[in-house]
Amino acid sequence: MTWTMARRAERLNPSTIREILKVTERPGIISLAGGLPSADTFPVAAMAEATARVLRDNPREALQYAASEGYAPLREWVAAEMATHGLKADASQVLITTGSQQGLDLAGKVLIDPGSKVAVESPTYLGALQAFAPYEADFVAVEGDDEGPLPAALDAARGARFMYMLPNFQNPSGRCLSASRRLALVDKAMAIGLPLVEDNPYGDLWFDQPPPPPLAASAGEQAVYLGSFSKVLAPGLRLGYVIAPKLLYPKLLQAKQAADLHTPGFNQRIVHEVIKDGFLDQHVPTIRARYKAQRDAMRVALERHLPAGCRWNVPVGGMFFWVELPPALDATALLDKAVDAGVAYVPGAPFFAAGGHANTLRLSFVTVPPERIEVGVAALGRVLKAAL
Ligand SMILES: Cc1ncc(COP(=O)(O)O)c(C=O)c1O
Repeated sequence: MTWTMARRAERLNPSTIREILKVTERPGIISLAGGLPSADTFPVAAMAEATARVLRDNPREALQYAASEGYAPLREWVAAEMATHGLKADASQVLITTGSQQGLDLAGKVLIDPGSKVAVESPTYLGALQAFAPYEADFVAVEGDDEGPLPAALDAARGARFMYMLPNFQNPSGRCLSASRRLALVDKAMAIGLPLVEDNPYGDLWFDQPPPPPLAASAGEQAVYLGSFSKVLAPGLRLGYVIAPKLLYPKLLQAKQAADLHTPGFNQRIVHEVIKDGFLDQHVPTIRARYKAQRDAMRVALERHLPAGCRWNVPVGGMFFWVELPPALDATALLDKAVDAGVAYVPGAPFFAAGGHANTLRLSFVTVPPERIEVGVAALGRVLKAAL
């Protein structure tokens, strides 16, 4: 007897990042690789109090099976919160998901047939490529510049089932789309009938000013919007949400039912208990201030230690610097040497659906404190100089 696996199993690939994270867990390595939020920002006391309240006031409902759509008060909170960002949606369009990563999988399941074109930014979030690939998507990489995808380049995406976009402090490039670029992209997408899947886990992590309104605010029924509590509360909660057009909602809901019946109701109630009276208005600014200081520490360290010929952005929010090395250097090939020197990063190549870009890498500035950022970037600088 032997097992015959489905064709899609071949397309389930290990995440390069998760593989790298294993290496970086070795003691003594300064890991600038992981996209983990700083654990110091997790609101432990508020979570403990809210958990106690939920168990005291509604223990049996909280521990019972629950609605697949999500906990109604949390769905209402999401709809009200999104209205403050210019996205008008009814609570009935909100589907609570087990992390926004599940939203990506559900969108793939409902929208992609074998061979369907799916347009992505270049680079794009590796976890989205991983979510869409098993549905046998045929990726189209849309060209962009420092401001994001180019509206004219969307012509390459004609006929795609959707374009996946990350307008705010993108993982991996850190870039944030200007208001005018957003409007131009939505206009073009509307003109060519291209639906959008907008992913926004980092939008609240801005440093000086909030980003412009989401694409979904102007694309209406032509956009699916994904949000997450991972970066503003804690990723271990596995709590995200989808705001779906009315036409798609029932199918996303059925896909969700098949996947896991519902997102843990206990977690949803705890989070609603924590946030319902404006907790995030005090909490998120503390995360912003911390991450901004760490961004500054990394900017100074990069200027001090990276050799001439390296280029990087200065992110105005989020968690990542994106570095372009001189063309002769290959970030994947250099990773072992970097780890031997005590520092880890994520090579940029896997973030490109169309391949290439071996000379790019991603650095996270949020998990490691400023003194260690300086030591890690100095080690990276030495490895790069030795390779030139
Ligand atoms: C762009 C992007 N989308 C989605 C996710 C998944 O987030 P979660 O499932 O924790 O909400 C991540 C996680 O890092 C991400 O970077």
